[in-house]
Amino acid sequence: MSDYPIAEIRSLFPGLQRQVNGNQAIFFDGPGGSQSPESVGDAVKHYLLHQNANVGMSFATSKETDSLIEETMRACADFVGCEDYREIVFGQNMTSLTIQLASALSRTWGPGDEVVVTRSDHDANVRPWVLAAQWSGATVKWIDIDPGDCTHKVGTIDESINESTVMVAIGAASNFSGTINDVRGICSKAHSVGAEVFVDAVHYAPHALIDVRDMDCDYLACSSYKFFGTHQGILWGRFGRLAKLPVAKLRVSSEEVPYRWMTGTQGHESMAGTLAAIGHLEWLGRMISEENISRREALRVAFSAIEEYESELCWRMIEGLKKMDGVKIWGITDPSMKDMRAPTVSFTHHSMTAEEIGGALADQGIFAWAGNFYALELSEALGLEPEGALRVGLLHYNTAEEVDSFLRLLSDILE
Ligand SMILES: Cc1ncc(COP(=O)(O)O)c(C=O)c1O
Repeated sequence: MSDYPIAEIRSLFPGLQRQVNGNQAIFFDGPGGSQSPESVGDAVKHYLLHQNANVGMSFATSKETDSLIEETMRACADFVGCEDYREIVFGQNMTSLTIQLASALSRTWGPGDEVVVTRSDHDANVRPWVLAAQWSGATVKWIDIDPGDCTHKVGTIDESINESTVMVAIGAASNFSGTINDVRGICSKAHSVGAEVFVDAVHYAPHALIDVRDMDCDYLACSSYKFFGTHQGILWGRFGRLAKLPVAKLRVSSEEVPYRWMTGTQGHESMAGTLAAIGHLEWLGRMISEENISRREALRVAFSAIEEYESELCWRMIEGLKKMDGVKIWGITDPSMKDMRAPTVSFTHHSMTAEEIGGALADQGIFAWAGNFYALELSEALGLEPEGALRVGLLHYNTAEEVDSFLRLLSDILE
């Protein structure tokens, strides 16, 4: 992609300049957490140094904090594609928000109800629902994985969802195999039997435009530290459900949506960082489009460019890995299924462990994770526990040269 402004993007991320043992560091650890642009650091610093306050009072810093929260909710509404910013809930991270939502929903379920989870998701989209089912007396149903390419086959999904289903919890993209799921199809199937759908979009968020209306899901969660922001969990839910569900809250806290979900004092500086991270993506979209477009449109342009750029890097990586003896990629490797893949590639080697490979890469300044990445069910289903796999995750600031350096170095390590 010749017109993708990679040099400008990289210049905004001071962290990318890091050197390790004389080598320029290569950040392939994005699925665990991305680097942040300077604008995110500046926003956090500005809030803490000049606006730090609690909410709801009439003095300047408190009023500015109230505005910051609403402004960040509006930006997140554009980020996920909802109209009403009051459908955005903030929390510590995706895991905590999911546990909170699952707990509230469990108070509405009972014996005879069925909750559907997958073998492909991060445990943060499995265990909260399994626990919620246990607390309410509901039954858990599992959608199995095809180990050949780490996809869910339509048949297994259809078999798991029926008239008793109350909830289907699905990941938009796997943080292990990179598989992108047919969330829209699953929502349509779930809604046809009256069930709700919760989408874990944590891994999807830095790679593609989230559109809750197009997905037609009921709840969706993501985390700003995966898309260049701060440690900030974001939950979207339909207004009517957020208003009615029996969420655990203090007597002193507001009944207003979404604040009835936002327990205790929030991480305001993290919201400032989240707002700036969305601002970064918006900047990219405006820069590419060169037109005066809305924030949502700018995000659409940005993600369309990111998707195309990352896909090229991803397939360069996959084709390179395919040529290496003893390397097995866990996920889609057929280019005709390109649209079903995020640029996250996990692999194992027949003789070296993931941890050994990760350690050798780290010595040379290449940051990549070894393990199960908390996608425990998938790692087990693939027979990879306890070692897991080595994961290289690409983001919008990585380059083809980095992919090539990685492949050269990996080849030396494996020899
Ligand atoms: C796919 C996926 N879901 C959920 C999570 C958990 O997110 P958080 O750290 O915000 O709780 C992660 C974190 O790695 C993830 O990759």
